[in-house]
Amino acid sequence: MLDKFDQIIEKAQSFKISSIKDLEKFKLTFLVKKGLLNQLVQEFKLLPNDKKKEVGKILNTTKKTIEEIYNFNSQKISNTKIINNTNNNLPGYFSDVGSRHLISSVVEEMTLIFERLGFFVSIGPEIEDDWHNFSALNFPPNHPARDMQDTFFVEDDIALRTHTSSVQVRLMEEGNLPIRSIMPGRVYRNEAISSRSNCFFHQVEGLYIDKGVSFSDLKQTLYNFVKEFFGPKTRVRFRASYFPFTEPSAEMDIFLGTETESDYKLTKGTGWLEILGCGMVDPNVLKNCKIKEEYSGFAFGLGVDRIAMLKYGVKDLRTFFNNDKRFLYQFKSL
Ligand code: PHE
Repeated sequence: MLDKFDQIIEKAQSFKISSIKDLEKFKLTFLVKKGLLNQLVQEFKLLPNDKKKEVGKILNTTKKTIEEIYNFNSQKISNTKIINNTNNNLPGYFSDVGSRHLISSVVEEMTLIFERLGFFVSIGPEIEDDWHNFSALNFPPNHPARDMQDTFFVEDDIALRTHTSSVQVRLMEEGNLPIRSIMPGRVYRNEAISSRSNCFFHQVEGLYIDKGVSFSDLKQTLYNFVKEFFGPKTRVRFRASYFPFTEPSAEMDIFLGTETESDYKLTKGTGWLEILGCGMVDPNVLKNCKIKEEYSGFAFGLGVDRIAMLKYGVKDLRTFFNNDKRFLYQFKSL
């Protein structure tokens, strides 16, 4: 009988266990009711009483050894299982890192183009006084032109700027001539919100003041910008217009066509979309800002949101401001 204990331990020790299936086999061979261990227990029961004490001890250690072999392997296999489950192809944890908004990227794109033409970047405040937003820009008090831009007032003479032209005034007042600067920023108007307009939006203002600046310099600068930004085949047109602070004044349109429904809507059926206002700085404005008579200049104001819509096929201006991540992620790498 004692030989049998040695044999069973030897058998258990040499049992190959490398999977759950093997482990199950081990259990069936040794540990279940009909297993080898229990067979020994049954044999043990038949022993005469005087032998039971001695053999019982060996039986217990044998049982313990076999159970230990089982437990050891069972643990090993469950560990292996975890390791095998580590799938290197699973995506890593997503960390929510912010990125630049499309409007900021477009402003940067525009800035780079104008910088290559020798323009510097200036910025000014979003809350402005009447002088910088209107009066210095040749809007007489109570003049109907003030209604062109529905204004959010903070106090009587203080308002959220309605255009970045206010920064022109600040630059000219500083008086460091010549001036060749663009002025990006956010502007506010009390307008009905729709797919084409919002109560705040973004502009890039441009100002060039020097001796002998002409309207053809203005046109050439803007042609260059459009071709760089939208591509060399882009069709543009200048239309005569009116702004109190420029004379003559013009608006520049870009051709989209009317083939798609959204282009038709966006261009009100004409195929042309206005992207900027411009003109030669009115002599009254130069005088208000104490610029000497021998200087002249041009100014322009581009609508950034509209330009971003055109270039990136965004159909609704409001998507820029809703901050829906599904929209923002599409422009993440810009
Ligand atoms: N400030 C004008 C607007 O907001 C645009 C403009 C800027 C026009 C500079 C002419 C010169 O509509």
